[in-house]
Amino acid sequence: MTRNLLGIRHLDVETIQNLISLGRTFKAKVTSGEKIEPMSDQVVGLLFFENSTRTRVSFEQAAFYLGLKCSNFAAAGSSISKGETLRDTILTLRHERLNGLVMRHRSSGSAQLAAGYFGGPVINAGDGSHEHPTQALGDALTIVERKGTLDGLVVAIVGDVEHSRVARSNAWLLSKMGAEVRFVGPRTMLPSHVSMLPGTLYHEMPAGLEGADVVMALRLQRERMGEGMVSSIDEFTRNYQVNREKLRFAKPDCLVMHPGPINRGIELDDISADGDHSVIHQQIENGIFVRMAALHWAFGGGAIKQAETKKSGKKVKA
Ligand code: NCD
Repeated sequence: MTRNLLGIRHLDVETIQNLISLGRTFKAKVTSGEKIEPMSDQVVGLLFFENSTRTRVSFEQAAFYLGLKCSNFAAAGSSISKGETLRDTILTLRHERLNGLVMRHRSSGSAQLAAGYFGGPVINAGDGSHEHPTQALGDALTIVERKGTLDGLVVAIVGDVEHSRVARSNAWLLSKMGAEVRFVGPRTMLPSHVSMLPGTLYHEMPAGLEGADVVMALRLQRERMGEGMVSSIDEFTRNYQVNREKLRFAKPDCLVMHPGPINRGIELDDISADGDHSVIHQQIENGIFVRMAALHWAFGGGAIKQAETKKSGKKVKA
């Protein structure tokens, strides 16, 4: 059976728990220097049609630790710039005998489309403003490490939720795991069809952040915005920047998160980004381990799979 990781929305709780748990197992192995049985003779295509630093490098690192070979593909320098369609590119890669794909693309739904054409495992590394499942898995691992659980936590996702695939994947994952999700921001940046997303809308920071265990700041994703979405950056910053003053409304031990890239001084100030509450560096590192879990889950694997089966009885407390 082909396993695609296209989004969190349609994953069941057990699969999410197993992926987080497997990410934890890989973290322990990698950090202790324990040998990981290589998943040799498989090639994963990394297709990034949009810019990326963290996601791309961590997929490369994840593949490296697992012994998978990467075939890197960037839109510039490929036949896309000669007018080839996404469909033809995906079919070409299938016939180049790649074993699976990791893809980032500006269009929502493109990962699903690619999975249909490719017919093998496809992992979504971000499709438009739709989903970014491995980011949510890494964020969940980071929260579980600090708080021990996701169940019962209050998570405030602040800023440009409307254009954020990170917000969507996180909202699905967190709510499935029993957390309360709040979307905090100006009307123009919160989803208008909120009934389709699990979360409650707040337009004021004091109410939105009150009692929050986790505060997640988001970048203004101007590349996806129409004109006039923010009346002024100054106004957004004044009202919705996550900073020391605003964090007083959250719990004293709240975590500060950001998927990166940060626009410092806009959605997040330096003190909060670099302070004791920040787990932004852990988010980056955990991204590698949950991507190992995602690649392993999607590609299947010999010896590691046995290790996974042995450990899977021990569920992550989430
Ligand atoms: C995010 C993305 O690309 O969706 N970054 C990431 O993958 N870590 C968030 C963003 O671009 O603002």
